[in-house]
Amino acid sequence: MARTHRQPMEIRPPAPRGALSQWLERRGISLSQQLRIVQWGLPVLLSLIVFVDEIREHLLEKREWVFSQNFLAEVIFFGILGPIAVFLVLWWVRGEWRERERAQAVLRQTYNQLAEAQARLTDLHRQRGELLNRVLRIQEEERRRVAREIHDELGQLLTGLSLHLRHYQETAPPEFPQMREQMAYLNDLVQQTMDQAHRIIVDLRPTSLDDYGLLPALEEELQKRLDPLGIAYQVRVIGDSNCLPPEQATAAFRIVQEAITNIIRHAHAQQVTVTLRCDGSACELLVEDDGLGLGQASTGETGYQGMGILGMQERAAAMGGSVTVGPREPRGTRVLVQLPVVSGPPAGGAWPDATHPSARAETPALG
Ligand SMILES: Nc1ncnc2c1ncn2[C@@H]1O[C@H](COP(=O)(O)OP(=O)(O)O)[C@@H](O)[C@H]1O
Ligand SMILES: [Mg+2]
Repeated sequence: MARTHRQPMEIRPPAPRGALSQWLERRGISLSQQLRIVQWGLPVLLSLIVFVDEIREHLLEKREWVFSQNFLAEVIFFGILGPIAVFLVLWWVRGEWRERERAQAVLRQTYNQLAEAQARLTDLHRQRGELLNRVLRIQEEERRRVAREIHDELGQLLTGLSLHLRHYQETAPPEFPQMREQMAYLNDLVQQTMDQAHRIIVDLRPTSLDDYGLLPALEEELQKRLDPLGIAYQVRVIGDSNCLPPEQATAAFRIVQEAITNIIRHAHAQQVTVTLRCDGSACELLVEDDGLGLGQASTGETGYQGMGILGMQERAAAMGGSVTVGPREPRGTRVLVQLPVVSGPPAGGAWPDATHPSARAETPALG
């Protein structure tokens, strides 16, 4: 859905007032009262001036009788009709001013309500971000815990079972060959279960991410998922690949993981390139494919809107970063992940071991 951004409402400051108006207001005569005084006072003053001037002119200059026809005509015209016109104009001005004041008051009220709603929204947005951060952290911790439990508990049991089976297989009397075969078959099943459990552990939480850092984990992920499909891949590193603290490295890894899922599901690509660029303050991950490109891949059910890209963006936002998905030239799709580097190791967390010689980590075997 396209979002329209409205221009922020402009509320003009009140026009600067004259010193006299301010002085009167300080004495308790409001602007509205001042306007009423002017509306009534000015026409009356004009009438008085005209009346006095006409008397002076007729008595002293023209030496006429005061209430001559000429005098009355001039007084009525300049001293009554003129001030009435002035009164009407001022009446209209006052009406307009009151209307403007009312509109300004409504505008101010609306603006204040909007400002309050905006503050509430910002607060909710912050809370949502914190909550999301927590949920993602808990999810990772839970994955790590389940992986460890499978590794430690189930792994030991299966290893014990396998050893016992082998022992009974080797010590079974030779006159029972079928029993030996059954033992071998069972041991095979146990081995397969161990392999399966190992895969589940790696899917839950790639141990290379904890043990060696982002780059080996990414390489392992690309190899594990793209090699079987015959999709070529390349990883380029510019700068220090271990600049991200563990939590952000996990976020970066999960985002790239989702980008790879999308490439496999939608792109029909031949080549994938992952570029990791880090400097002291920011880290960028660029995942490019030469596939069909956005909007070309079918999404299955009509009207279906995937959550993968949204999830990637939310995850990056939770770390103070961003994800941009767009077309790649000449063809394909590019996913740009930008994450700020938070300086110093996080509380309670250790940096991954960057000094390990192997880029491709080995996941510990069960048992
Ligand atoms: N690398 C890609 N190549 C082609 N299309 C893509 C790619 N990544 C995403 N898309 C398109 O964007 C849509 C949304 O992706 P996403 O949010 O991950 O949802 P989903 O994968 O569940 O469909 C996909 O359905 C697909 O059409
Ligand atoms: Mg997806």
